[in-house]
Amino acid sequence: TGMVTVDPGFMNTASCESQITYIDGDEGILRYRGYPIDQLAEHSTFLEVAYLLIHGELPTREEHDAFVERVNRHTLVHEDFRTFMGTFPRNGHPMAVMSSAINALSTFYPESLDPFDPETVELATVLILAKTRTITSYLHRTSRGEPLLYPDYSRGYVEDFLRMTFAVPYMQYESDPIVVNALEKLLILHADHEQNCSTSTVRIVGSSHANLYASVAAGINALSGPLHGGANEAVLKMLDEIKANGGDATDFMRRVKDKEDGVRLMGFGHRVYKNYDPRAAIVKQSADAVLSALGKNDELLDIAMRLEEIALNDEYFISRKLYPNVDFYTGLIYKAMGFSDSMFTPLFALGRMPGWIAQWREMMSDPQTKIGRPRQIYTGATERDYQDLSTR
Ligand code: CMC
Repeated sequence: TGMVTVDPGFMNTASCESQITYIDGDEGILRYRGYPIDQLAEHSTFLEVAYLLIHGELPTREEHDAFVERVNRHTLVHEDFRTFMGTFPRNGHPMAVMSSAINALSTFYPESLDPFDPETVELATVLILAKTRTITSYLHRTSRGEPLLYPDYSRGYVEDFLRMTFAVPYMQYESDPIVVNALEKLLILHADHEQNCSTSTVRIVGSSHANLYASVAAGINALSGPLHGGANEAVLKMLDEIKANGGDATDFMRRVKDKEDGVRLMGFGHRVYKNYDPRAAIVKQSADAVLSALGKNDELLDIAMRLEEIALNDEYFISRKLYPNVDFYTGLIYKAMGFSDSMFTPLFALGRMPGWIAQWREMMSDPQTKIGRPRQIYTGATERDYQDLSTR
């Protein structure tokens, strides 16, 4: 009905109205519920930001403590679920395991599936936030064949995630406040980014009234691609290759500009930001601080900084307004923390979970919502008659 026009990549199509996240791509501004990203990264915590995104306001002390307590109490996963997580091939990509695991969670909590009952939706929200922390740590451990640890309720969300990921069983675990703070900040920076590819996926799946688990599991799959969340892993692969080839950043940049074999500078460019990604600016500072605090003088960081320097002064990148995005420096920090490359995108998913949930909930409670069903312009064959197999 009406005139249908094609808009590849939805460059000019708004899929919804939203009150959650504001981006001004020309100015490089990002705000969650009106709060500037740098203030939240500096002063808030991941769970507080999750509450803000989902409920629209910063929590009072009482609301904050009740929410944190409730998430904490649900971090344990069912024993059968632990077994399930151990059944994937050890070198299978953790993003595939993660989306399977989040989808499978729904089978353990059938009482949390009604998308229209507010209490049930709140339960699913808490269960997903709580279990994703445990699941993400198990992704690391199962990929190494290491025993899975149980949550420790006395520790904070990020601190206990790191303990479950890295602690040696039965050994005392001392968390490093520099690492805890840096990861807290990174998760906050990833928590939402309006209608990106994975969030749009979550919304379109939910628009069929699929449950929250099914919707965010689909989001994880959308995030896995190298043009989206998979870019953080792809950046490290790129830096490794440059290093292995003698560390010549200039020659690599020549290949990017010549579009040789379609090679791109991973971690650069963005559909919306035509200026420095405000998240990347914070991540870059953090990378410097974390790597020097951990005493990891990474040659890859030097290569990354050289690539950025070349790009910011080169006509190819300037004319196309290509700047570092959030993924450019994150992998270097995760690596310094002890994560393997294949864990970088699951960490992005852990951080993005509150945003997906908030966007799904906003959509489900919006009376304007209809099932997501784009139109097309048909360009195939016109009508023709079926021919029997023997005559073809
Ligand atoms: N390296 C080299 N050239 C690039 C890059 C890049 N990273 N990104 C864009 N270009 C060029 C592109 O070739 C095109 O040039 P031309 O006009 O000569 O054909 C022009 O810039 C416009 O690019 P586009 O592909 O039309 O832009 P888009 O808005 O469709 O794509 C993007 C955005 C993020 C997919 C793209 O910039 C890209 O592939 N970047 C590398 C992957 C990456 O870092 N992704 C993470 C995105 S941020 C966080 C997240 O979502 O996970």
